[in-house]
Amino acid sequence: MTKAISTERLILRPWEETDVDFVFDLYSRWVVQRFIGTEPTVMDSRTQAVAKLKSFQALDHPVHGIWAVTRKDDGVQVGTLLLKPIPKSGEEPTEPSGDVEIGWHFHPDHWGNGFASEAAEAVLEHGFASGLERVVAVTNSANTASQSVCRRIGMEHKGTTKKYYNDTCELFVVENTTAAS
Ligand SMILES: CC(C)(COP(=O)(O)OP(=O)(O)OC[C@H]1O[C@@H](n2cnc3c(N)ncnc32)[C@H](O)[C@@H]1OP(=O)(O)O)[C@@H](O)C(=O)NCCC(=O)NCCS
Repeated sequence: MTKAISTERLILRPWEETDVDFVFDLYSRWVVQRFIGTEPTVMDSRTQAVAKLKSFQALDHPVHGIWAVTRKDDGVQVGTLLLKPIPKSGEEPTEPSGDVEIGWHFHPDHWGNGFASEAAEAVLEHGFASGLERVVAVTNSANTASQSVCRRIGMEHKGTTKKYYNDTCELFVVENTTAAS
């Protein structure tokens, strides 16, 4: 069960059935989807939003999770934060690589507030406190906003990689420096 995480300005919580409208609004936007996947597309039906929400809820794991990020003061939804196994490149597109990735999809109405970085930092802390040894992030080379989030939360740019998602991506990595102690 995905556990709620609280930060200074945000609550990261499990997805609820009533979040469908937000999921549809978020993933039907080209500015959100344009750098996601090898052939980005926007969501064009509520049915797809229902399926996406169910897939978010289906990740039931003590450490990994997909969180709905909400503002603490008024509960407004601002985005999605993901910590999950990253699939390796190959014929079977969902085969796990053994690495765990962190990712973020935020609503453009809420960009420019530091919310993605604040949520990601808290999820990274949760992952490391739960024993993860390292976390990776991959971005499209043109996705400078996402690369900035990686850097803000202490991830190091390791150049490009073809290791994941059958794609060439910019790779960012952060090691858990407390794992061995
Ligand atoms: C990637 C994405 C999450 C970045 O969102 P963001 O709001 O720019 O990222 P942050 O939360 O780190 O916010 C940083 C910005 O908030 C500003 N900011 C304002 N108040 C702040 C605060 N208290 N703390 C930190 N930053 C603050 C920063 O100056 C910075 O602005 P700038 O970009 O103009 O320099 C967003 O562009 C997005 O959702 N894109 C679509 C989905 C996507 O591509 N996901 C990644 C796939 S790899």
